[in-house]
Amino acid sequence: MLNKIGVIGGGFIGGVLVQEIAQRRLAREVGLTDPAPFVNPSDPEEKQAATAKQSVAKGKTLDIAEGLPTLRSDVKVYGSRDYSAIEGAELIINTAGVPRKAKPDGTFPTREELLSINLKVTNDVAEGIKQNCPDATIISIANPLDAIVYTINKRLNPPKNKLMGMAGVLDSGRYCYFVAEAANVSVENVNAMVLGGHGDTMVPVRSSCLIAGVPVSKFLDNETLQAIETRTRKAGGEVVGLLGFGSAFASPAWSALEMAEAIIYDKRKIMPVCAYLDGEYGVEGMFVGVPGIIGKNGVEKVIELDLTDEEQQAFAHSASVVRKTCDEVDEMLKNL
Ligand code: LAC
Repeated sequence: MLNKIGVIGGGFIGGVLVQEIAQRRLAREVGLTDPAPFVNPSDPEEKQAATAKQSVAKGKTLDIAEGLPTLRSDVKVYGSRDYSAIEGAELIINTAGVPRKAKPDGTFPTREELLSINLKVTNDVAEGIKQNCPDATIISIANPLDAIVYTINKRLNPPKNKLMGMAGVLDSGRYCYFVAEAANVSVENVNAMVLGGHGDTMVPVRSSCLIAGVPVSKFLDNETLQAIETRTRKAGGEVVGLLGFGSAFASPAWSALEMAEAIIYDKRKIMPVCAYLDGEYGVEGMFVGVPGIIGKNGVEKVIELDLTDEEQQAFAHSASVVRKTCDEVDEMLKNL
């Protein structure tokens, strides 16, 4: 158990996180920060005054706190509009930013298209962490995932093991789910890793996909696997299209908690993580999804797999797409 976990962003993912942290008793305290709702200066004064008194973070955490006696959980849960709620946190989970959302015509932006809005938010996030919990280990979920982690790193420059992004656990979970469904076996039997950037170029690694330790190709034909891999790459968008109001939230929150538990309990668990690469996989100075050992120090080690030529090429392509977004970040940060 930690003393304190801070959650940044009180949207759907943030809500599930606080709820689960309290239920699982992962820390003695959990603080949630979110500036919403924003006061609209063109609203009548009365409405502005009413909005100023509201707080999504306070409301969500009060709701959860009031449910905790029923669960017999003594975890202290609270929220604030400013960053004071995360003061002293040892672990931060960052969800701040706008999610992808379906437009009236049914189309939706790519994760990369969220960059300009979410970059400003991330600037504030980095400052909030710096002021309130500069030594915290950070798991970031906000999109575009790899570029937001890169931005936090540029602004905070923490030890490389203490900053990571959550994407691979979610993408791999989706891959495993589709494989289990197609093979008609328990999800407990399926292991697989999805690497690379958290975008449409992500790389479901077929050579890592095993059902009860047996290569997946023993169970499913090439065509079926290709369809599953394509669906995996677009799985976030599939949920966005169905929901209409935003993006997936239960599975991303649970995936981040899988990583948080590996850190809290020093499990040294191997999972895909958006980690800083210093030459591994031919990538330098960027955060991209790779297998890593996660333990009390965060990313304890990056593991280099023997990928097939095809997987290697797909990974290199995915990393080049992340590089392009990070170059945009470098440009945009000059004016922030
Ligand atoms: C997804 C978002 C959270 O993949 O990135 O659903």
